[in-house]
Amino acid sequence: MEVVALVAFITIIVSIVWTHFWGAPWVPTSRALVHNMLTIAEVEPGDVVYDLGCGDGRVIITAARRFGAQAVGIEIDPLRYVWCQLLITLLRLRKRVKVVFGDFFSQDLSDADVVTCYLLQDTNQKLAVKLLGELRPGARVVSNTFTFVGIQPVREHGRARVYVFRPEAESPTA
Ligand SMILES: C[S@@+](CC[C@H](N)C(=O)[O-])C[C@H]1O[C@@H](n2cnc3c(N)ncnc32)[C@H](O)[C@@H]1O
Repeated sequence: MEVVALVAFITIIVSIVWTHFWGAPWVPTSRALVHNMLTIAEVEPGDVVYDLGCGDGRVIITAARRFGAQAVGIEIDPLRYVWCQLLITLLRLRKRVKVVFGDFFSQDLSDADVVTCYLLQDTNQKLAVKLLGELRPGARVVSNTFTFVGIQPVREHGRARVYVFRPEAESPTA
């Protein structure tokens, strides 16, 4: 029993340190805020929604089930990736929800209508450069808590801020 507890403890610590190194540790967005984020980002049926660091899959699953989106989650933590795969299979969402294992910095986001994220301030700043280069006109980015310094949100609701990136107009400070 003690060995099981020790292995679980070490796994949790490694997971926190590992994901922090890549961009952010796992802290889930509350379910109410997930709904608010997708609402103020104006997700519509058929929209392609990416959640960068999808954690336990709550954003992508809500986007598909409640908003009719095609959702893609990208996750670097193997445990949470496997959990998401299991969940979308059990919920029979495999046609509408995809989960990719890996680093979102190396994924192509050019087909996104909406990008959601709950990361860290520094990570958002690095991400801004990628989003400015890749997102198509009209794509919305909704960030829980953290801002994109130098880019004005077009809408805010509590901890959720929606940004529309316009490559010709924005220049984030690194
Ligand atoms: C604060 S949690 C947010 C989880 C989920 N998006 C939500 O709002 O509930 C951040 C997630 O991003 C993942 N993550 C951090 N850096 C990443 C990276 N570079 N690529 C993919 N996933 C990453 C972490 O493993 C963690 O699950």
